Amino acid sequence: MRLKSFSLILPCLFGVMFSQIANAQSGENTYKQVCAACHGTGVLNAPKFGDKAKWAPLIAEGQATLTAHAYFGVRGMPPKGGNPNLSIEGFSDAVVYIVNNSGGNWKTPDAKMTAAINKELEVRKAGTKKP
Ligand code: HEC
Repeated sequence: MRLKSFSLILPCLFGVMFSQIANAQSGENTYKQVCAACHGTGVLNAPKFGDKAKWAPLIAEGQATLTAHAYFGVRGMPPKGGNPNLSIEGFSDAVVYIVNNSGGNWKTPDAKMTAAINKELEVRKAGTKKP
C-alpha cells in the first residue's frame, strides 16, 4: 500500500519541482541573454541588477504595471528589451528574476496576473496613458 501511494506522489512532486526550476532558469537565462547588457552595468541609466534603492520605487508600481510598461518600452528601455521575439511570458519571468534579486519578492505570473499585465499593455498600446 505504502509503496503504491509513493509511486503516485513522487512523479507529481518531481513534476512540480522541475517546472519551478525550468521557470527560474528561463527568467535567469533571458536576463543573461537579453537584459544583462544594460541592466548588469547600468547602461543608459538602466536600473542596475541588485540595486535595491533603484528598484524599490519601481517594485512599488506593482507587477502588472511595471512589467507592462517595461515590455512596451519606456525612455531608454527598448520595447521587449530590444528582442522582438521575446514573449510577454518570457519577459515577465526575466522581470521577476531581476526584481527578486533586487529586494523584491514576485512570483511567476499566474493566469490572473498575466491577464492584468496584458490589460495594462493594451492601455499603453492604445495611448490612453502617458508614459
Ligand atoms: C538597451 C538597453 C536595455 C536592455 C537590453 C534592457 N533594458 Fe530594461 N531598461 C533600460 C533603461 C535605460 C531603463 C530605464 C528607463 C528609464 O526609466 O528611463 C530600463 C528600465 C527597465 C525597467 C523599469 C521600467 C520602468 O517603468 O521604469 C524594467 C522592469 C526593465 N528595464 C526590465 C528589462 C528586462 C526584463 C530586460 C530584458 C528582457 C531589459 N529591461 C532589457 C535599458 C535596457
